Amino acid sequence: MASVSASEFWTDLYARGADGWELRQPAPPLVDFIETTPPPRGRVAVPGCGRGHDARYLARQGYAAVGFDFSPTAVREARALARGEAAAAEFVERDIFALAGDYANAFDGIWEYTCFCAIDPARRAEYVRTMAAILRPGGWLLACLFPLRRRAAGPPFAVPRSELRRFRPPFRVERAYAPRSVRARQGQEWMVLLRKTC
Ligand SMILES: C[S@@+](CC[C@H](N)C(=O)[O-])C[C@H]1O[C@@H](n2cnc3c(N)ncnc32)[C@H](O)[C@@H]1O
Repeated sequence: MASVSASEFWTDLYARGADGWELRQPAPPLVDFIETTPPPRGRVAVPGCGRGHDARYLARQGYAAVGFDFSPTAVREARALARGEAAAAEFVERDIFALAGDYANAFDGIWEYTCFCAIDPARRAEYVRTMAAILRPGGWLLACLFPLRRRAAGPPFAVPRSELRRFRPPFRVERAYAPRSVRARQGQEWMVLLRKTC
């Protein structure tokens, strides 16, 4: 079996219908945040966007949303859903760990949901470096950490709150709270607003 760092691993899960992460709707923690305390409109990256429900939602809310995923299946389906809704979200087939070269300081914000828990935990420091590289100074990283506790062998790999230490620096935490979650994820999510300080 391919490793989680290979797109084939994920494409195979899509092909087998083993996409247990699929919500078929934008994530409630994101919707609540944007409805109550929306950051200024700007360019927002969605790493590991899957079928793009969150990126399409952000586009509908006036953000220039770019979803990245290295599974061709995810990107194809995300583009088809966006076309069907005439949503302006863009979808790019790319390994997120290769974004820094083409997208240095390119984004005002990042929405992280179920990508950090999908990557090999040994690559988490690399993930933080990459997100910091594609975000402009002063930009925001809104992350919903999930699952807080280990439930089975990953992915998803557990993301306890202590993992926030990996983001500091170059990020500082501005807000952190338990969000409204879909039923199956209640008590397993932690929402964090981080700011790139330099
Ligand atoms: C658990 S799924 C979550 C998808 C989406 N965020 C959602 O909530 O529906 C993880 C997604 O991240 C993608 N992914 C994992 N590692 C990646 C990487 N290194 N670069 C780009 N995409 C990646 C997978 O292809 C998959 O679509």
